[in-house]
Amino acid sequence: MTALPKLEDLEDKSFDPFMVEKLSTGNCPDPYPRIHELRQQGPVVEGSYRKNFTDVPDVQMGHLPQVMVLGYDAVLHVLTHPEVFRNKEAFAPNLGRSFGNTITVMDAPEHTRFRKIFQKAFLPNVVTKWGETVVDPVVNRLMDGFIATGEADLIEQFTHHYPFQVIYAQVELDPAQAPVFHKLAIAQILSSIGAPQGPEASGKLGAFFAELLRQKRANPGTDLISHLATVEADGERLPDDVLISFLRQLMNAGGDTTFRGTSVLLTGLLTHPEQLRAVSEDRSLIPAAIDEALRWEGPVTSTFRYCAQDTEIQGHPIKAGTFVNTVLASANRDPAKFENPDAFNIFRKNTVRHLAFASGPHLCIGQHLARVEMTRALNAILDRLPNLRLDPDKPAPAITGHLLRVPEHLWVKFDRA
Ligand code: HEM
Repeated sequence: MTALPKLEDLEDKSFDPFMVEKLSTGNCPDPYPRIHELRQQGPVVEGSYRKNFTDVPDVQMGHLPQVMVLGYDAVLHVLTHPEVFRNKEAFAPNLGRSFGNTITVMDAPEHTRFRKIFQKAFLPNVVTKWGETVVDPVVNRLMDGFIATGEADLIEQFTHHYPFQVIYAQVELDPAQAPVFHKLAIAQILSSIGAPQGPEASGKLGAFFAELLRQKRANPGTDLISHLATVEADGERLPDDVLISFLRQLMNAGGDTTFRGTSVLLTGLLTHPEQLRAVSEDRSLIPAAIDEALRWEGPVTSTFRYCAQDTEIQGHPIKAGTFVNTVLASANRDPAKFENPDAFNIFRKNTVRHLAFASGPHLCIGQHLARVEMTRALNAILDRLPNLRLDPDKPAPAITGHLLRVPEHLWVKFDRA
């Protein structure tokens, strides 16, 4: 068997990239009152979403005129008019520096071509199989670590780990390399704020994946990299640079989002015990619970586009060259579309789809996988932690962050088996 390549740690071992997570998350307890105020000013409002919540300067995009798009229909319009609202200019200076030539940084026709191949790799029938083979073992192993105690912090001991461990299992990472892998994955985001550790981390992850990919091409297995290396659409395979950029992005796009989404799902249910009981007794409610959690507290509150030509949305002009803050969280709580939008209610009768996975050509490619992971995690929790409830002796969970949201702790008690 070929030895897996070794991941090189950052030169400066004392450097702690996890602070960036805290920085990007911020400590904003609840952005929604401000979001409602802004939306009441109109579906399109001048200014930057970030500046409403933090003083951290936007070194990449701060020089551009900016608008916030806030109404549901207006957000959907931006996401579904990619010829006007482009990804490349919006993401090349930030995500592009961190990850390279990833599909998030592409527009048609390049995006259409590669997206088609990725899409085949993440079809529902493919990812459903990973539920049993990859997700369940990770979920159960983590739960084995605290199940005998009758109490846990579900963030620290469960949700903060399982989607990342799913990725490690999918790329068959040596567990001993996982801490460095996680550290580099976080450090690479620092490219967008000009820190030298950013390109260093991107380079080291890139070299690691390039070698892994070479090995998998020579000797394909059943892992995700072999799968991505061989999947085809219209007779075309993914070029190495696009595949490696995707793998670099995976920890953030797939791991971090699913960690946040699952945490928010559990928070919504635990703070509404009658809904938790209903889901526990009738598991066919799980898909509705997942969608309601993502609508209510979607992990990604805003995405971004670059307006490439003078245009207008619902009578509001937007000039070419404007950076467009496309506020998904605002669309998902637009009272014109969702009755009593601030309430977590898995029984709501929605007539429109939430936009937590966005829409249009860049609609989340991992949404089926995220749903599989969240479903498996919730089922295991409901099966294995009877009488699950918030720990009355600990602080109630508080979801924070203006751009990416999650509670820091979720202390629970349950009956021991
Ligand atoms: C609850 C979990 C998740 C949420 C809330 C989420 C959210 C999103 C959103 C909002 C976008 C669109 C961004 C935009 O249009 O600017 C997106 C795109 C993307 N997501 Fe997810 N995501 C999740 C899980 C995953 C997973 C598990 C994967 C793993 C494969 C993944 C991979 C991607 C990729 C590669 C894109 C870029 C697609 C493109 O540009 O064509 N995501 N995600």
